[in-house]
Amino acid sequence: MYKIGVDIGTSITKIICAEKESLNIIYKFSTKEKDIKKSLDRFILENNINTDEIESITLTGVGAANFNENIYNIQLQIKDEFICVAEGASFVSKEDNILVVSIGTGTAFIRKNKENIKHMGGTGVGGGTLENLCKRLTNVNSFEDILKLAEKGNLNNIDLKVKDITENQISNLNLDTTVCNFGKNGKANDEDLVLAVINMIFETIGVMSAFLLKNDNIHEVITTGTLTTIPLTKEILKHVEELHDIKFIIPENSEYITCIGAII
Ligand SMILES: Nc1ncnc2c1ncn2[C@@H]1O[C@H](COP(=O)(O)OP(=O)(O)OP(=O)(O)O)[C@@H](O)[C@H]1O
Ligand SMILES: [Mg+2]
Repeated sequence: MYKIGVDIGTSITKIICAEKESLNIIYKFSTKEKDIKKSLDRFILENNINTDEIESITLTGVGAANFNENIYNIQLQIKDEFICVAEGASFVSKEDNILVVSIGTGTAFIRKNKENIKHMGGTGVGGGTLENLCKRLTNVNSFEDILKLAEKGNLNNIDLKVKDITENQISNLNLDTTVCNFGKNGKANDEDLVLAVINMIFETIGVMSAFLLKNDNIHEVITTGTLTTIPLTKEILKHVEELHDIKFIIPENSEYITCIGAII
């Protein structure tokens, strides 16, 4: 038998079909399509899933509450998104005591330990900011083109770094540390601009995670959300790791962690 988890996010719907006992993911799918029934039908059809073998369908994410159709005669369940994020991250990391940062359209920080799950807060700086700020600043139209442009960007044309203001070491900061995102006003092209936006967003989220853990007994953060699948996530968060006592983990299927939490 199978369990299906559906995460209806602000921007993207994610669906997984997993083996009931092991919760191993058999099929996964992510779409910007807004019609949830249509997306589920397509998922079931394309993967040749026998609906008699579906034990449960659990919905989560911001759009879950608006969907109450009875489909395939299977009782739909709705599960709180923050609980799904925390339980999904706990399941994949095999750790009870974790901080999870969900980098979706916006960003949420969730602290879980053995006893409880707490939404610590969040920031409106997230994937939506990344995509739309890049589109507003340049002529780029798609997320894929943003990534292509960013490959050729140079942060030295936009960000003010320690090496720009002094030759001396300041505290524990290395010479490449950002002093001010977008701190330079000289010439910069679209490639530089999109890279600087992406860098500012991940630096902000990374530093917020580090501050959250300053007085905590854990120093690892599990990252989730579609944006974590881009290579720049790891690259930029590595710079935050160099300055703070923190480690960012991007698990396998990081964009489906909330779906995994839904079927637990
Ligand atoms: N092909 C892609 N690969 C990686 N990231 C993408 C891709 N397309 C869009 N994104 C980014 O992913 C973000 C959406 O991430 P995610 O699916 O985790 O959010 P969501 O679940 O829809 O939103 P929220 O959790 O805030 O309700 C977009 O804002 C965009 O920045
Ligand atoms: Mg989400």
